[in-house]
This record gives sequence, structure tokens and C-alpha cells, in this order.
Amino acid sequence: MYRNLVRLTGLLLTFVIMSSTFAQKVYEKQNPPRKLTQQQAKVAASNYQKYCSLCHGDDREGYKNDHAPSLRSATLFESGVPHAILRPTSYGRQGTAMAGYLDEVGGPMTLDEIWDLTYWLFWQSGAQRVKLSEDPVEGDVQRGESVYQAHCATCHGVEGEGVNAPALANPSALAHNKDEFIRYTIEKGRDGTPMVAFADKLSQQDIDNVTAFIRSKATDAQIKTTSLKAIPTPDKYIINPDSDDPNFELTDGIYVSSVDLHQALQANKKMVILDTRVPSVWQRAHIEGAVPFPYYTDLSEKLKDLPKDVQIVGYCSCPRAATEYIVNQLRDLGYTQTAVLYEGIFGWMNLGYPVVKAEGMLESMPDLAH
Ligand code: HEC
Ligand code: HEC
Repeated sequence: MYRNLVRLTGLLLTFVIMSSTFAQKVYEKQNPPRKLTQQQAKVAASNYQKYCSLCHGDDREGYKNDHAPSLRSATLFESGVPHAILRPTSYGRQGTAMAGYLDEVGGPMTLDEIWDLTYWLFWQSGAQRVKLSEDPVEGDVQRGESVYQAHCATCHGVEGEGVNAPALANPSALAHNKDEFIRYTIEKGRDGTPMVAFADKLSQQDIDNVTAFIRSKATDAQIKTTSLKAIPTPDKYIINPDSDDPNFELTDGIYVSSVDLHQALQANKKMVILDTRVPSVWQRAHIEGAVPFPYYTDLSEKLKDLPKDVQIVGYCSCPRAATEYIVNQLRDLGYTQTAVLYEGIFGWMNLGYPVVKAEGMLESMPDLAH
């Protein structure tokens, strides 16, 4: 009897210690956002296919191109709606293939369309929203760093630069994601992705510590505002119209290297360069002379502006998917002199080749109450 009591107390104690270490936080539920009308849902679904499926997949599963994350994890939509969805969709993630889609920064969508798409994604995910606090998560940054290096760096990079997972130190991600949203992801993971839940691997305190470490990577660099550049008109499409053809030797019959493109530009060769990303990122930085020609371009409307007898080179940041998508369509339509920049624009920039940059980009936050 007595022995049993001791055993029971021991068990209870272990349980109390275990649960104070690993007990998950209890989150209050939050009311769901508004429902879309049938018409809004129809438009949102078609905007998703047109603008997002290229990288995030036809079924929101993610990882179709360039490690684009899942857009159907329940944990993302429990914790991320609206702002962790609305803001990256509006303004993009600087330095990644995720561009801003809001018209204000040069993208193709209105703010209302982005709100509807955010809520459409939520309803598709079947998630139930939880209430997160706006307060910063307090923790020991140094201890957080050692936890980070031991458990996170292989995927997210030693400096949070991202290896095969999002760059956690990305300035736009840190500007858009609240501490509790980051913490929730670490605790619960993202179902259906390589991001596992750390609730039973790290203590609650260490989850706070690593969150505080990630937050410590934020800089308070000011994002300057600037006006949008004019999009080149079709009469400006051909660079060096009086010069001759660059005669590229293409790898696999489709790829041109940054070295060869750079040489051709320096030799003032005749070309059309298409930037197949969302125009908001063309606004930020592009190869000189490049024309915005986003992957969702309606070719039936734009073909009249594209010459068939001039070398066309396309590039994107994903690093090739969006351009291959366009170039393959052009080839089917008889554009034989077409090529894809192998390294993409980030590769080009990493090799030290020049781009035309904006001084800064407008990055206001959309209205919080909606
Ligand atoms: C060219 C590829 C590409 C396209 C097209 C694209 N995305 Fe992304 N998206 C990405 C990548 C890559 C990331 C991860 C960026 C990073 O590393 O932080 C991302 C991240 C996101 C995130 C952040 C998710 C998270 O886990 O925090 C959201 C939300 C998002 N995209 C929504 C969209 C929506 C909505 C569209 C269509 C309007 C879209 N994306 C189109 C590549 C793309
Ligand atoms: C096996 C690789 C891997 C490891 C290890 C890993 N992650 Fe992740 N993490 C990912 C992937 C992949 C995603 C994107 C998942 C998706 O599709 O939503 C992600 C997403 C995240 C996000 C959300 C980012 C965003 O922009 O929405 C956070 C925060 C995060 N991880 C933090 C951590 C922390 C902290 C650790 C260590 C305790 C860690 N991760 C360990 C692969 C990993």
C-alpha cells in the first residue's frame, strides 16, 4: 500500500516535471473569418491557379518549384490568417522567388482580391483559427542560438539564410510574421511538410528561446518608398536593334549561361530579354533592358509585340520554372530563338553581374481591420 503510494507519487512527480517541460500551450480558438460569396470563391480559385500554382502546386501542396511552402498546412492557417498570408502575398519575400502581387507595388492583384484569396486559402485548408498574442516572445537569445544550431540550421541555414527551407532571418518574413506565429510553427510544425513539430523535442522555454533568437535577426533597416518605374513599351523591347545576333550555344537546347548573356550584352548584341517574374520584383531589380513578361501573361494578347527573328532570353528567380513555362509556350508557337537564363537572376547577381535597382520599395501594411 505504502509502496504503491510512493510509486504513484513518483509517477505523478515525473508527470508534473514532464508536463511542465513539454506541456503544450493551450490556445484559445478564434472566430473564423468571413465566408466568401460563390462568385468571390470562384475568382479566388482561378487567381490561385493563374498566379500561385506554378510554385505552390495545383492543389496547394507546395514544393512544385523553388521550395515554395505548402499553402494547405492546417497549422499555417490556424495561426497565420490573415496577416502571415496577406502580407507575403501582397509584398513578397525580398530576395526569394516569392514576389509581391499587390497592384500598389507593381503586382497584378487588388487588395480586395488578395483578401479574398487569403480567405479562400483558409477555407480550403479546413483549419480552425487560434488566437495568438501580439506580444513579443521573451527568451534567452544566446541559449536560443545554440538550440537553433543544434536543431534547425541544417534546413534553415547557419545564419537563418535558408538552405532547403524558408530563410528565417529574411527581413520581409520578420517584418510580416509575429513572434507568436513563429513560435506556433516551431511548436506545432507544418503538417504535410518537412517542418516537424518540436513540442515533444524541445522544452517550452527553449521554444521561447529559439523564437527570441530568430527575432534577434531582425534589423530595423528602413524601407524607403519610391514611385514605380514605367513599364517599357513594345517599341523598346529589342535591345540594340541595329546590331547582330548573339549566336548563343545553348545547353540542353534551352539554357544560356550568365557568362554568355553578360558577354553578349557587353558586345551590344541584338536581343529581347524577358523578365518572367511578377512585375513588382522587376521594379526592385532587373537586368538592364529586360521587359516585364510575367509567367501568367496572356500570350494571345502579347505575341504581336514579340519578334520571331530576334534572340529572346528569359529569366526568373525560381530559378528557371517560370521562364521555362513561358519559353515552352513560345516554342510551341514557333519562336525558335528562345533561351532560358540558367542561373536565374539571383545566380546572375551572385556572380557579380549588374542589375538596375530601385532605391527602395513602398512597403506599407494593408489595413489591419478588415
Ligand atoms: C515563382 C514561385 C512562386 C509563386 C508563383 C508564388 N510563390 Fe508564394 N512563395 C514562394 C517561395 C519560394 C516562398 C518561400 C519564401 C521564403 O523562403 O521565405 C513563398 C512563400 C509564400 C508564403 C509564406 C508561407 C509561409 O509558410 O510563411 C505565402 C503565404 C505565399 N507564398 C503565398 C503565395 C500566393 C498566394 C501566391 C499567388 C498569388 C504565391 N505565393 C505565388 C514562391 C512562389
Ligand atoms: C528537416 C528540415 C527542417 C528542420 C530541421 C527545421 N525546419 Fe523549420 N521549416 C522547414 C520547412 C521545409 C518549412 C516550410 C514548411 C511549409 O511548407 O510550410 C519550415 C518552416 C519553418 C517556419 C515558418 C517559416 C515561415 O516563413 O512561415 C519556422 C518559423 C521554422 N520552420 C522554424 C524552425 C525552427 C526554429 C527549427 C528548429 C527548432 C526548425 N524550423 C527546424 C524545414 C525544417
